Amino acid sequence: MAAGLEARGRTPTQARLRRRFLRFVPVGPGDRVLEVGCGTGVVVRDLAALVGRRGEVVGIDPSRLLLARARQLCREAARRSRVALRLGNGGQLPFAANRFDAALAITVILHVADPLRIVQEMARVTRPGGRVGLQDQDFGVVALTHPDRELTDRIMQGVAEHIYPEPHSGRRLPGLLRRAGLDGVRLLTDVYQDTTLEPWTKTFLERRAERALRFGIVDAPAATRWLDGFTEVVAEGAFVMTLNYYGAVGTKPE
Ligand SMILES: C[S@@+](CC[C@H](N)C(=O)[O-])C[C@H]1O[C@@H](n2cnc3c(N)ncnc32)[C@H](O)[C@@H]1O
Repeated sequence: MAAGLEARGRTPTQARLRRRFLRFVPVGPGDRVLEVGCGTGVVVRDLAALVGRRGEVVGIDPSRLLLARARQLCREAARRSRVALRLGNGGQLPFAANRFDAALAITVILHVADPLRIVQEMARVTRPGGRVGLQDQDFGVVALTHPDRELTDRIMQGVAEHIYPEPHSGRRLPGLLRRAGLDGVRLLTDVYQDTTLEPWTKTFLERRAERALRFGIVDAPAATRWLDGFTEVVAEGAFVMTLNYYGAVGTKPE
């Protein structure tokens, strides 16, 4: 998983949509920012560059393994800004109320069973007038060119329903922020677009095929046929994958 997060972080289209979201929040020099579910610290590194020496970035994650990797990978960023990485759960944040200027969760809400609890905690630790920002994919809005559309839908939808508590998380983010009591909620819709089958996309599709096999959605020949279908499409210069990302931001009432 750590390698997957880093590969995604390096993919230029992914980096652009992550940075567009951080501008949308916005995050600026001197801000104290919390990232819930920081993983290997891809976003922590972006944030450290944005907040600078006067700012502070705190990342929190329940995975000891990912956090250990984040500590290695964020050493350089920690020389340029105050960076702290802590073990913890978004549903019970170990911080006093009103501690941060902004609290963010990027591709995290999609994975959790009780998203409202996490967003309420993010709102609690954000100061009045501060921002709570969420960004997620929405697996109801994926476009893929493939010779077998039915098989593609079965794999993509079947796997998403198995692995995410809410595969349509992206479109639900504005409502979630409002339910947590945030004001002035805004939405940024963005698209991951790949026309060449970039390494991250290829790994993403291979993992979908592996999981479809493991969950009994398809048998081994169908999984192989599905992956081979992409090879054909790429050879014809016809590959397209788009995946919608939704970024939503709300302000804590004064
Ligand atoms: C897909 S990764 C995203 C990591 C990072 N935000 C990024 O964009 O590279 C999801 C992360 O959420 C973390 N996570 C899962 N459940 C969580 C929870 N209840 N509270 C906080 N983080 C959680 C996972 O450990 C994982 O690191």
